Amino acid sequence: MNILQEDFTKLVNFVQHNFGIDLSRKKQLIESRLSNTLKEKGYSDFSSYVKYITTTKNKNDIDLMLNKLTTNYTYFMREREHFDFFKDTILPYLAETKKTSKILSIWSAGCSSGEEPYTLTMLLKDYFSKQPGWDTRILATDISQNVLSTAMKGEYAIESIKEVPPHWKTSYFSKTTNPSKVCVTKAVKDNVIFRTFNLMDPINFKMKFDVIFCRNVMIYFDQPTKDALVNRFYNATNPGGYLLIGHSESVNRAAVPYKYIMPATYRK
Ligand SMILES: C[S@@+](CC[C@H](N)C(=O)[O-])C[C@H]1O[C@@H](n2cnc3c(N)ncnc32)[C@H](O)[C@@H]1O
Repeated sequence: MNILQEDFTKLVNFVQHNFGIDLSRKKQLIESRLSNTLKEKGYSDFSSYVKYITTTKNKNDIDLMLNKLTTNYTYFMREREHFDFFKDTILPYLAETKKTSKILSIWSAGCSSGEEPYTLTMLLKDYFSKQPGWDTRILATDISQNVLSTAMKGEYAIESIKEVPPHWKTSYFSKTTNPSKVCVTKAVKDNVIFRTFNLMDPINFKMKFDVIFCRNVMIYFDQPTKDALVNRFYNATNPGGYLLIGHSESVNRAAVPYKYIMPATYRK
């Protein structure tokens, strides 16, 4: 199915304005990824679909469209250097600076199906296992309710944990009735608070964050949207706190005062 230029422009503007995602060079992707959905939903052309989706309040339909147009690709231990840095540098820093309150505030923004916040949880559990009393709960958000449901379920294909340390397989995963799947343990699940959150919205959480992971999310955003979001992250970061982004991404240091630490790692 082909999309007319006028409908394409309307859809691109709608998605960019509401979700920050830049599809202006993705005409073919829109046509190939949405055609089947349109057919399934009984649309015979893009015009009526675009008219509907840009005016509807139906979150499920918008979610379905975003799921088709973006990628939720993620996996346990993705971009491992960040997790090593988290374990070897950030956690000792937090253990020292937060030793009075014993409350950490970590945000996985754009968490997709949960592998990132669960990986962080396993590192936290390893690190604090012999130090009782720490509140290590992580906030994990995504715009897509669909991926958050998968995340909350915590079930993953057995192959997806082949890269995790051997003791994690026994300590943090349990068997399911399906022999090809494993599930994160209740203790791991309970450490993550999943919420729907659109990163285009103002950040008004109760506390500021010691660490924000926002990896492989801003790849879809144009530069002004990225700059504005990273500034909002900056304002939501505690002094000395960290922002970690995807390895193929960068922060415009002329626009945001974070200090560069190493590739994809910044500090307030
Ligand atoms: C490729 S996944 C990244 C997952 C994980 N952070 C990682 O690096 O493996 C990108 C996620 O960003 C989410 N996303 C895209 N635009 C968003 C927005 N405006 N607000 C919140 N999440 C968004 C998508 O739904 C998707 O789950």
